[in-house]
Amino acid sequence: MEIPLVVGNWKSHFTVAEATGWLNRYAELATGRSFPKFPKPVVCAPFTGLFALAQLINERRLPLNLGAQDLSAFGEGSYTGEVAGRLLTGLAKYVLVGHSERRRLCGESTLIVAAKVTEALKAGLIPIICAANLKEVPVEARNNPKVIIMFEPETAISQAGHYRAESPQAVKKVLANWRKRVHPKMKFFYGGSVNETNTRGLILQSRVAGLVVGHASLSPDSFVSIINQARAAVNPHVLD
Ligand code: PGA
Repeated sequence: MEIPLVVGNWKSHFTVAEATGWLNRYAELATGRSFPKFPKPVVCAPFTGLFALAQLINERRLPLNLGAQDLSAFGEGSYTGEVAGRLLTGLAKYVLVGHSERRRLCGESTLIVAAKVTEALKAGLIPIICAANLKEVPVEARNNPKVIIMFEPETAISQAGHYRAESPQAVKKVLANWRKRVHPKMKFFYGGSVNETNTRGLILQSRVAGLVVGHASLSPDSFVSIINQARAAVNPHVLD
């Protein structure tokens, strides 16, 4: 089993100064021989923090990749307020697309998600498509192993720090069904109330390739602990 990827989703949190503070603490914790250099954990930060974070990560050679939480459905051009995929060059490797909060609050349809996936791939970004059911994954994307699909039922998303994750067995069952209907090399992640106590079970029992962590990623200590738990699930010696 591959070492699972842990992806933080900060949502609309952290000024640049706060993001830098988070990174300083992460740098203290993410040291030592056993900390993963590959796959590098990911943080999807607000657009406003990406530049400062990218500079610090490069300067200090920290084991962390960056992702964006969204991108424009249009290319570069006269689209006031939009951030085209190409503008993320050098700032992000991954991008979340179609998060349920965007679908619900910003009216993002699967058609728009499809356009965003196309733009992300054009810009060389790895799209992580967030979906509660397979219908929410654009048809073309289902056959493209360059994308990642994150299963996240809206009811599993934490509320005000209250965790209510889907059970690993339920995740396994849903994904077994999805796997039959997508490219055989498709990677699946799970998101929704991932925290330090449920990480091992989710990795071991639902056999996902990665976890997306919202609320619990706001604390660098919890985030690093989740990364260590995820690695220990596939290689118990890392926590020795
Ligand atoms: P949560 O958020 O971990 O706080 O439930 C996950 C997400 O919405 O991506």
